[in-house]
Amino acid sequence: MIRLEGVQKHYGTGQAQVRALDGVDLEIEDGEFVAIVGPSGSGKSTMLQLMGALDAPTGGTVAIEGVDTSGMSATALTRLRQTTLGFVFQQFNLVPTLTAVRNVEAPMVPLGVPRAERKEKAGDLLETLGLGDRPGHLPLQLSGGEQQRVAIARALANDPKVILADEPTGNLDTATGGEVMRLLAGLNSEGRTIVLITHDTEVADAAERVVHLRDGRIERATQPDASASTA
Ligand SMILES: Nc1ncnc2c1ncn2[C@@H]1O[C@H](COP(=O)(O)OP(=O)(O)OP(=O)(O)O)[C@@H](O)[C@H]1O
Ligand SMILES: [Mg+2]
Repeated sequence: MIRLEGVQKHYGTGQAQVRALDGVDLEIEDGEFVAIVGPSGSGKSTMLQLMGALDAPTGGTVAIEGVDTSGMSATALTRLRQTTLGFVFQQFNLVPTLTAVRNVEAPMVPLGVPRAERKEKAGDLLETLGLGDRPGHLPLQLSGGEQQRVAIARALANDPKVILADEPTGNLDTATGGEVMRLLAGLNSEGRTIVLITHDTEVADAAERVVHLRDGRIERATQPDASASTA
């Protein structure tokens, strides 16, 4: 689904150079649930940005669905981000002046989905995420957990194959974070590929595979024992 080969992301030059990523090889399979863990500054967010074609590597290749992103036009990259990928962030990143339902509709606008259809789809997604009674609320009128559920609904608006989530539980209490993780696990069991960044090892244990980053390199990959949690 997503393949990184020899990926580097270097910022600046000379003595001031930061090697945010320094030779990363990683393949995310279709339908996989992968967690990325590592200390602050190890390159986790940088890696997710490259996986989501939000940024280009300074070396190596990033391929999404078998296509090298470096050969794609800006328009094709935008379309790829709009249709194949869904993004969820720690700060929710909702538009503060738009209601919940309008936030969820937003990604459908550039695809030319008619207003009525957008509204219906957004309403259905909010309903699925347990926010059917909150479509007219502004982000500030919602709790953190509710805002993150709106953000997940928005990420799902164009039915992406992959959800890329950067610390989605980072601003939530343990119980609310647990709810968000159950939602992501549910999306994965429906066949969606999930790549999740977290510094919380308990959160990472929900994934099939945990990739450990350190100083811009993959240190190791582990597989949390699923039988331990289901026993
Ligand atoms: N735009 C930029 N310009 C210069 N350096 C950057 C830039 N973005 C990130 N870096 C540097 O790259 C390194 C990796 O940053 P990154 O944000 O990927 O880390 P992270 O693992 O997500 O950390 P955290 O857990 O704190 O979010 C850091 O040293 C950071 O300072
Ligand atoms: Mg980060």
